Amino acid sequence: MDLQNARRRVDTLRGTIEGHNYRYYVLDEPSISDAEYDALMRELMEFEEQFPELLSMDSPTQRVGAAPAKGFQSVAHEMPMLSLDNAFNHTELVEFVERVRRLIPDEELFWVVEPKLDGLSVELVYERGILVQGSTRGDGRVGEDITSNLRTIRSVPLRLRSLKPVPERLIVRGEVIIGAEAFETLNRLRLEKGEAPFANPRNAAAGSLRQLDPQVTASRPLDIFLYDVSYPETLPAATQAELLPLLQKWGLKTNPLFRVCFSVAEIQEFYEQLVQNRETLGYEADGVVIKLSSFELRPRAGEKSRSPRWAIAYKFPPSEAVTTVRNIELNVGRTGVVTPVAVLEPVRVGGVTVSNASLHNEEELKRKDVRAGDRVVVRRAGDVIPEVVMVLQPEHGVERGEPYLPPESCPVCGTTLVRLGDEVYRRCPNPGCPARRKEAILHFAGRDALDIDGLGRKLVEQLVDKGLVHDPADLFSLTQEQLESLDLVGPKKARNLLESISASAFTSLARLLFGLGIPHVGHYLADVLQREARTLERLMAMSRDELEQIVGIGPEVAQSIAQFFASLENRDLIRRLESRGVHWEEPSEDQIPQGPGPLTDTRFVFTGTMKSMTRDEAARLVKALGAEVSSSVSKKTNYVVVGEKAGSKLTKAEALGVTTLSEEAFQTQLIMWQGE
Ligand code: IVH
Repeated sequence: MDLQNARRRVDTLRGTIEGHNYRYYVLDEPSISDAEYDALMRELMEFEEQFPELLSMDSPTQRVGAAPAKGFQSVAHEMPMLSLDNAFNHTELVEFVERVRRLIPDEELFWVVEPKLDGLSVELVYERGILVQGSTRGDGRVGEDITSNLRTIRSVPLRLRSLKPVPERLIVRGEVIIGAEAFETLNRLRLEKGEAPFANPRNAAAGSLRQLDPQVTASRPLDIFLYDVSYPETLPAATQAELLPLLQKWGLKTNPLFRVCFSVAEIQEFYEQLVQNRETLGYEADGVVIKLSSFELRPRAGEKSRSPRWAIAYKFPPSEAVTTVRNIELNVGRTGVVTPVAVLEPVRVGGVTVSNASLHNEEELKRKDVRAGDRVVVRRAGDVIPEVVMVLQPEHGVERGEPYLPPESCPVCGTTLVRLGDEVYRRCPNPGCPARRKEAILHFAGRDALDIDGLGRKLVEQLVDKGLVHDPADLFSLTQEQLESLDLVGPKKARNLLESISASAFTSLARLLFGLGIPHVGHYLADVLQREARTLERLMAMSRDELEQIVGIGPEVAQSIAQFFASLENRDLIRRLESRGVHWEEPSEDQIPQGPGPLTDTRFVFTGTMKSMTRDEAARLVKALGAEVSSSVSKKTNYVVVGEKAGSKLTKAEALGVTTLSEEAFQTQLIMWQGE
């Protein structure tokens, strides 16, 4: 075939394939079999191989083209990506609607109400219909360029359908999510491979988009819904209600579920319907978003610095469910902290299945008096770890199990547990405890640390139990034979593991610092330390005072870092890592965008007396992760941390529906945030 005919056939094939993609991924109405589809793709690939001059980036064959990246570039958003104010109850909904009515008194207002998707917001830029850039929200002004990853999402069109003329330039925003069913499958597969399951679909989506290797992103079941554009006045749609179908005509996936409302009563009705049907949506939503539909009227309502006045998020109440405690187990963490965990009959709460709930610490457990066999209320609020709220009265005549007895010795290595100072936790003080070693090695191999592909929990457990690995440095002297001696590891898997171990040896200082598991140093602070110290030698030589000069590092964290590097054992570990070929690059200037912290845009209020730290200390810890701390509760507050003798702030938080955290829940949560 000559080039001209080939070009014609290639164009037809691309058009046909894109049409099928659109029907399958956007409309959810496939019209051919998988085999027929594969045949079309194969034919297109063959043509592109034979006529490389016909290849183009927007071809459906080019979704997973890019090689793994070293880091993400920063991109400034042409228009800031705003966030939304929250309403937590009917009164606040009424206040919002009234406020907009006062600002625009002479017009009849109508609203578009959409589910508020609990995923990651992203921006896509199309130029003359071709996808040229995709980015994360970041801090709203500057995000990260994740174009290669977004291209792998099948419901993101690489070029727009041109049935309607497409704009010169289109900036469109939406939410990347993982659907409920896809999430369950993903986690099941991870468990089978010995990998840690994701806590919830949002984390899974976030982790997948942050992959440096688009191949990995492509293997995750990501989906997208688009819901907003910059410069709507330039488009042939006058309202949000017209915009959504227009986006869909261009091939962009929109959520079919939305409602046009003319009154508060209609909004409230739709909201309540969704609260009732939350479980059946097929994806996680944490509220509804109410938007003034008319683009012409929006500027009259105006904007604040971070959020528009013409829209609001009306949040769902935190969700609770009743289930039975199967057992209370003890978990020994990387730092030796022993925490009781309630193992539950699996139950759906707020869209995810929960089978474990934190009991935080033994005092908390004693207070709630949870026992095996009890019926309990469990609660999940947003991203927060599920917790047991209370024990229900046993049915008449039913005997309860034995009260929980705190352990005197480590459930894993038998060492007598200790308490440091006035800590509420007991710790296993034995650094050689197999449970601690396993957690430390898993952490070191984890995604944000050295990212050793394929080294999951089951393998690490065997390696430690067989005495083949004692600490992270031992991973780098493992042999093919040793690996083959493990259960479920054949020659091929052993080879792959050795390869991924040696590939991981070439890393960055930030990943190494995070991987070492210095208490309080999550991957955000590890980035900060990398940026400030630039080399490990310099960091190790820094005094506590010098460390405290770094923005984001408070006295506790400074002490923790200094102490870590003062330990001979830790110094030895670093020396052995180096001598076995682990190598970390000095960061180059442009490689380290200062990203947002895990708590950026999150507002805390502390109230009452805390047992384990002062309120100032607690405030410094969350500020180090990007949070804001204020002294009074408003509906903009995300968390109120409640100590003993809390007064009016607690009452106000409850009235406003703001999430409250007990001191125990806060500590548990903090460890998670620090680890992000
Ligand atoms: S509209 C200026 N619509 O909620 C308004 N946002 O809290 C732009 N979100 O950053 C947002 N579902 O990530 C809009 N249907 C929806 C949404 C939605 C989820 C997220 C979005 C935004 C955040 C604000």
